[in-house]
Amino acid sequence: SKRVAILTSGGDAPGMNACIRAVIIACQKANYTLIGYKHGYNGLLQQEYISLSLDSTHNLIQQGGTILHSARCEEFKTREGVFKAAKNLDKAEIDTLIVIGGDGSFRGAETLGEEWDGQILGIPGTIDNDIGGTDATIGYFTAIDTAMSSIDKVRDTADAFERIFLVEVMGRNAGFLALNAALSAAADYVVVPEFFESPDVEVTKIVSQIKAQRALKGPVSFIVVVAENVWPNGLNGLTEALQHHHINDVRPVTLGHVQRGGSPVAQDRLLATTLGEFAVSLVGSDITNIMVGEVNQRPVTVPLPKTWENAKPLNVARVDAMLTLMNERYNNV
Ligand code: F6P
Repeated sequence: SKRVAILTSGGDAPGMNACIRAVIIACQKANYTLIGYKHGYNGLLQQEYISLSLDSTHNLIQQGGTILHSARCEEFKTREGVFKAAKNLDKAEIDTLIVIGGDGSFRGAETLGEEWDGQILGIPGTIDNDIGGTDATIGYFTAIDTAMSSIDKVRDTADAFERIFLVEVMGRNAGFLALNAALSAAADYVVVPEFFESPDVEVTKIVSQIKAQRALKGPVSFIVVVAENVWPNGLNGLTEALQHHHINDVRPVTLGHVQRGGSPVAQDRLLATTLGEFAVSLVGSDITNIMVGEVNQRPVTVPLPKTWENAKPLNVARVDAMLTLMNERYNNV
């Protein structure tokens, strides 16, 4: 019978626990032994692991975070670290390692695959959705929801004062979260890395839209959703740029790590459950160094490098909808 190990690595994401649960249950059914390394790749290097059985699954599907804890592991980025990990996996007689994580975790997994003969299966877990080969990543839907309801709340106070708010949304170097949060919360403008020309061009557009809206409706609130890591010097930079255009009294809000927490929404639980189950169904096959994903509602396997080689494009229909909504107001005047 097989010995399977699982770990969660990099930024935690709602639904990681749901995925661990699915893996535990599927392993139990197949009669595989399952251990969980704690703190991402650190646990693999330190031999810090726990055994996972059905006892661990109670009330797990709805819990945010990850019961295995996570980390970004510097030692694992070195060759020595990878050698040590491979040795430890052999010592623990592991046949299959399942890694739930994002881009950094998969790069680590690919390097490990060059040194270790066992089977490596990745499962995409990140709120950023910036992983190629899968329509969505575990945690992404919950994060959109969290950002959306936060922006809804900002809207209440923005309306009360007819104020301009800048809301920074996570996403690392991708605009998935920002675009979809902006669209679902009916924000007035969105700044995403995929379409960022220059601060000057963007600020000119933002200012003309604020003016156009105000000319049309009088004093109204205006919410700009800004993806992180795009604007030089972040929300402070944008606040200053607006001041140069005589737009003052702007309030910045950074949503931050709130977006990583909370009980996963149904879509994340479903994705986590199907991908966890699918990964275990591959245990013992000769399919290795891949990520399992879902494309058009079908499970797929993707060679690990394909998950980071080409930046996944934003959903075109969503982009068009956002652009139309932004331009419509603009053209109305
Ligand atoms: O990858 C998930 C993420 O939350 C990104 O959106 C963000 O850029 C980053 O992690 C933050 O990392 P940390 O938790 O290490 O500050």
